[in-house]
Amino acid sequence: MKCKQLLVKGKAKSVYSTDDRHKLVIEFRDDITAFDGGKKDVLKNKGNYNAEVSAFFFEYLEQNGIRTHFFTMVDPHHMVVRKLEMIPLEVIVRNIAAGSLVRNYPFREGAPLNPPLVVIDYKDDARHDPMLNDEIIVALKLATPAELKKIKKMALEVNRLLSSLLSDHGITLVDFKMEFGRQGKTIYLGDEISMDSMRLWDKKTGESLDKDVYRFEKGDVMAIYNRVVQRITGPVMNK
Ligand code: ATP
Ligand code: TYD
Repeated sequence: MKCKQLLVKGKAKSVYSTDDRHKLVIEFRDDITAFDGGKKDVLKNKGNYNAEVSAFFFEYLEQNGIRTHFFTMVDPHHMVVRKLEMIPLEVIVRNIAAGSLVRNYPFREGAPLNPPLVVIDYKDDARHDPMLNDEIIVALKLATPAELKKIKKMALEVNRLLSSLLSDHGITLVDFKMEFGRQGKTIYLGDEISMDSMRLWDKKTGESLDKDVYRFEKGDVMAIYNRVVQRITGPVMNK
């Protein structure tokens, strides 16, 4: 599958049209950003690591009944996906209190959230991605009530599946972000699920295994991303 025209150059990925009007190619670049683009770097192989983990998760989720945009990989950092009309929501599922939840609300860092929380932000960099509620989402016509119900149900099911998979590899899924899109009336999971969009803690040591290593300069980001890929895609260690 050949890239035709660059449609979108985001902060970490580029999206290309292809000969098939229903398919796109997403290039996972080596750019990494944090704090609303305030911190930026290029880290060699980051794109490959995130693409590999995303493809692995999408295949696993498809096998477990979740509709995703994933078709196949062209090479280690180019993914063929279904072209979606993206819904500008950042759908975050949280199993443990961390990050902005702890900064903005009186939760104790590390407190379990049972049942998990679904928090939805408006994907709008200029407005710094403000948190939404169901009424605002519907009033802004970002999604219908039926779509919103479906998105939340899918988000919790993805969380259940990924939490279980990661736990088998000795990793706690603290929280993660998803983006959804529609093709006709069908909702698909789009974008990526990777170390850039998840918060992962080592089950034994509590060590960060995700973009927090980059955000807060906790160590060698690429060495950790590489190790996480090997762990997630490798044999189960902790049943
Ligand atoms: P961020 O998600 O970090 O706020 P961004 O919007 O700059 O940043 P990138 O990940 O760099 O995002 O760019 C990828 C773009 O591709 C996003 O706009 C995303 O919504 C879009 N996208 C992802 N999957 C699909 C798809 N299947 N069809 C159409 N667009 C998609
Ligand atoms: P959150 O705690 O809201 O933000 P921060 O990471 O700045 O403390 O993030 C929750 C999870 O969602 C975390 O795993 C990172 C992911 N996420 C993204 O991938 N992109 C985003 O724009 C946001 C807000 C979160």
